[in-house]
Amino acid sequence: MAYAAFRSIGAYAPSKVLSNDDLAKMVDTSDEWITKRTGIKERRIAANDEFTSDMGMKAAEKAIERSGLDKSEIDMVICATISPDYFCMPSTATIISTKLGLGNVTAFDISAACTGFVYILSIAKAFIESGMKKNVLIIGAEKLSAITDYTDRATCILFGDGAGAAIISATDNKDEAIIDIHTGADGQFADLLMSPNGGSGSFHDTLEQEATSCFMQMKGNETFKVAVKTLTKDVVEILKENNIQSSDIKHFVPHQANLRIIKAVGDALKLEDEQVVLTVEKYGNTSGASIPMAINDIYESGRLQAGELMLLDAFGGGLTWGSALVPFSPLK
Ligand code: ACO
Repeated sequence: MAYAAFRSIGAYAPSKVLSNDDLAKMVDTSDEWITKRTGIKERRIAANDEFTSDMGMKAAEKAIERSGLDKSEIDMVICATISPDYFCMPSTATIISTKLGLGNVTAFDISAACTGFVYILSIAKAFIESGMKKNVLIIGAEKLSAITDYTDRATCILFGDGAGAAIISATDNKDEAIIDIHTGADGQFADLLMSPNGGSGSFHDTLEQEATSCFMQMKGNETFKVAVKTLTKDVVEILKENNIQSSDIKHFVPHQANLRIIKAVGDALKLEDEQVVLTVEKYGNTSGASIPMAINDIYESGRLQAGELMLLDAFGGGLTWGSALVPFSPLK
């Protein structure tokens, strides 16, 4: 049987910085409020002519280069995004694979909001273990600024743009394989976090409605409570099922939505501060891109070494959630 190994990571963040002080000039908020309630100090914003696929491509280029693979060895590309270049078609994964010059590959997008990266990791693992694919490029890429209402202080302070990518490859060596992945969803909570217009579930009476059709809306406080409960339950279960202690985790890489949510889950697992990976302060919430951007952060700062165990944990619109036990297994 083939196993799936997490071989490499890459990420890209646009250069334009949007600070809390910048936002305080746009809506009724303050650096103090945002910092205290979310832990976010700034986020990155893509240029007008910089699309989700452009950021995804740049992250993917790094992941491919670091994997030691030739582009021709990649046989599948999956992109997790809620801010695709085009809402219906073509998929952003298709555009990225063409921009990378990958030729004939299987390519598609999935929509699981902030849990997107854990979902595409599970899909890559399943395709590899079934023997259908050998080297899968997975990408979380978001231009959330394109679907953010910058007159709504409850959401516009949270979100930013960016992309992260990883190569997942087949291996015979069980010791370097992804250990386990959990994914879940419950549509009962769909209205907590959604883009209510713009799809076949809505219609537009006015041009104004159409123009704002994809903006995200969130019941933040209710989402917060469900997030803490669900994330904690999910990580406790995945550790228990795999007989792994919190102390065995080298890097806890949670979805970077809110420092208070991350701290609550970290405390529940009794994790030390150095085990918890944090990028929320500088990138805000980049949805499907947030976990791979955070993994890239510890990789580029030299904190992620071969063989170290990561625990990924995510939660997002849908509602969706997921967790994964992933050793970092670069080719030697
Ligand atoms: N600046 C100043 N005041 C604000 C702001 C702001 N930007 N936003 C809200 N307020 C006010 C509210 O109006 C409210 O005022 P009131 O008490 O007079 O009514 C007060 O602050 C408290 O508002 P809450 O919404 O209760 O604030 P909370 O502490 O819950 O923080 C936040 C809001 C940061 C959004 C938090 O609820 C949160 O992080 N929620 C979870 C987000 C999340 O994890 N989403 C899932 C992933 S995202 C995805 O899938 C795309």
